[in-house]
Amino acid sequence: MASGHISDIGCRFDPLDPSQADGRYALWAEAREHEPVFYSPKYDLWFVTRYHDVEAVLKDVSGFSKCDDFAPARPWPEEVQRELDKGYSWHYFLSNNDPPEHTPLKRVVTKAMSRRQTAAMEPRVRTIARELIDGFAPDGIAELGEKLAWPFPALVALELLGFPGEDMELLKTWGDEWVLLFSDAPVETEAMVAAAAQFVAFQNYVLDHLRDRERSPREDLLSHLVRELHADPEINLALEDIVNLPIQVMTAGHVTGTLLLLEELTELLDGPDLMADVRADPGKIPALVEEALRFEPPVHGTFIRALDDVEVGGVTIPADARVLLSYGSANHDPACFADPDTFAIDRPDVDRHLGFGKGTHYCSGAQLARLEQRVALELLLERCPNLRRVEDRPPQRVRHMWLRGYESLWVQWDAPPASSPTGTPSPRRRT
Ligand code: HEM
Repeated sequence: MASGHISDIGCRFDPLDPSQADGRYALWAEAREHEPVFYSPKYDLWFVTRYHDVEAVLKDVSGFSKCDDFAPARPWPEEVQRELDKGYSWHYFLSNNDPPEHTPLKRVVTKAMSRRQTAAMEPRVRTIARELIDGFAPDGIAELGEKLAWPFPALVALELLGFPGEDMELLKTWGDEWVLLFSDAPVETEAMVAAAAQFVAFQNYVLDHLRDRERSPREDLLSHLVRELHADPEINLALEDIVNLPIQVMTAGHVTGTLLLLEELTELLDGPDLMADVRADPGKIPALVEEALRFEPPVHGTFIRALDDVEVGGVTIPADARVLLSYGSANHDPACFADPDTFAIDRPDVDRHLGFGKGTHYCSGAQLARLEQRVALELLLERCPNLRRVEDRPPQRVRHMWLRGYESLWVQWDAPPASSPTGTPSPRRRT
């Protein structure tokens, strides 16, 4: 895969080096200007940094494939693969698949998560957020990752799919083990074999639930998937083939939501004018969410593989090369967004951002994600007046190849007196 092309930026850039995290956008800017498509020998990976090049690759379905989106950072030891082979095929993960196979599967998921279906979830989403916030609002201090940003999207996803809420810890363990399988850091083979076994347990758990919904359908996404599987003539699959669809919905809608909520709060905490503006008019929250998706997209990029030698931005990417399309860089491309390094919630063109991807693999949960973010921010600002950072506890970043953002954020606020009623909606604060 390596070509004769020696890239200066490719040799310097290391997305997993924490010391490069803060300067990431300066590096992307340099790349867009001088080497918009560059090769990293360390990761044997090509990076595409300009908006229009990223867009062109996403559209080029004959030149690129997503079929091994979930390839490990380095080949798995044989024992790991043997363990995974005890489970079910990875083929039908949405993000690991190309049209035409991808099309009917995506249709099923998209139908279940339409604008109308999502809007109908708002009361329940609001209750989940309110119960979590009620749990810590009287304390006046909290680490919001642990108390809200992590459990909230997880609980919503459990509810959407129809998994019992009490299985959350189990699903968290499985989710963590799944991440470990793709870790960019070195992991002991023994730990990876254990993670593979846990992943197979996750698949079996999902299959049991799918079989249950086949026998007794309910109003949940699992039942919908089973129904559509049998109803859609274009889908000729067994329940065993689709065990990974619910797993994908669960995992895709979780950490992404955590990172985005903490990013929005970081912008509010660091921008007193922005905080005042949004508190005065919570109707601006959706615009804040979109700008956060542009400014610091949690899914910072996506993997894709070149099927042939393909020219992108004047550079030939060789056949079979693995490519990372940088959504983070594309979202800061001045060719597309004016003054891109400023966080501004009144951008006329913000909806061009790639925070939910674009085209074939556009996020199936975008509407739900927007709803979750709006509701969480509305309730949090309402219940936690004078929200501010805890100075001696800096936020922690995730260390990851294609996820970006903070996974923890300590905040303080003026806690209400102990006698304040909880669990009931209060009027919107206008300060
Ligand atoms: C803030 C929250 C979220 C963000 C930032 C986000 C972002 C994304 C992005 C960028 C992609 C495309 C990846 C690519 O181009 O390869 C994607 C795909 C996907 N997302 Fe989301 N997502 C979020 C929430 C959700 C939620 C709540 C769900 C479902 C409950 C969900 C389900 C999916 C699925 C199923 C895909 C795969 C679609 C496909 O490959 O066709 N996401 N998401």
